[in-house]
Amino acid sequence: MMGGDGVALTENHTPVEHRLILENELVRVWDVLLYPGELLKHRDYALPSLVVVVEGDRTETVRSDGSRETLDETPGAFRYLEAGESFALKNVGSHRYWSRIVEIKTAPHMRNIDPKETFYDDAYAPVAQKVLFENELIRLWEISLPVGGGHPTHHHMLPYVILSVEGGHNQMKWQDGRTTRSYEGPGFVLFREPGGIHRLYNMDETKPYLNRLMEIKVPSYPLPDLETPLTEEVLIDTTESEWRPKSLEGLSEIRLFTNEETGATISLVKFAKGSGIPEPHKHASNQFMFCLSGEYVYTATNTVLRPGSFYWNPKGNVHGPTMANADSVLLEIYDGPHYPQKPSWYTDDKDAK
Ligand SMILES: [Fe+2]
Ligand SMILES: [Fe+2]
Repeated sequence: MMGGDGVALTENHTPVEHRLILENELVRVWDVLLYPGELLKHRDYALPSLVVVVEGDRTETVRSDGSRETLDETPGAFRYLEAGESFALKNVGSHRYWSRIVEIKTAPHMRNIDPKETFYDDAYAPVAQKVLFENELIRLWEISLPVGGGHPTHHHMLPYVILSVEGGHNQMKWQDGRTTRSYEGPGFVLFREPGGIHRLYNMDETKPYLNRLMEIKVPSYPLPDLETPLTEEVLIDTTESEWRPKSLEGLSEIRLFTNEETGATISLVKFAKGSGIPEPHKHASNQFMFCLSGEYVYTATNTVLRPGSFYWNPKGNVHGPTMANADSVLLEIYDGPHYPQKPSWYTDDKDAK
């Protein structure tokens, strides 16, 4: 070993070693921490490598041929090193230098990948926000989230390494209903295999989240379960919703919920004064109505719904006609399909569902 080729060791630098923090069949990740003036000893990097800076301001790279390169090393800065690099690294700034060196193991199954292959699932958001670098082995992304921000629903089709630069408390919501929390502060490193559909939120109260996300182009990984949808609460502000007129004069609707499989729905329906369902009829499921305003009457039985009235009408029961004695708003629920067949008073099929 040519101890520190090209580096003036007479400058009294303290040699520093790498510290291995993660290794698997695809990557090896080293922790490098250099205080001002310290030196990372000369070393051969036989594998292609990615250097991601967590903290720092200025370094000098000294190669075995004696060439030197000075770099500004701000948080999040990165550089890709081809296989076969050989260098020492000196902190020539006034701040400590803290980085991760990710060596990429070029296994045979990673060869011959078309760099244009996207590895996207177009149905979802990309795995992160911005591509910073890409070649045939890796794709490096950025996620940058303000306090309270999130990255939308996506899933990973490639294994990846998370390299946090800035941030703190994150939360992931998964398709199987799990919510996981993690502390992904500066320097956090995590390898993940392709997984289920999820979303990411920055839950930290004070710090934005910034990372470098390195996808490794290994197409042979099994794909995750994509059948189960990602669930989430839905909030509808009906005061902001538009009433959709139906093909019966005076009737309009705000649809709140639809189960496409069963035909069940929940809607707000509004009958203008003097409008109503003109004929006796029956439904193909149980129907429930809660009157919010107005006065709505089933005229054959003189059943009157007023604000606060709850009415339900068993599947198959013949009822109606109806009449709104005042402008009336009702919450209407069907636990299955609305009608055995399209009733005569609707001209639009959509209105019968
Ligand atoms: Fe993700
Ligand atoms: Fe009805």
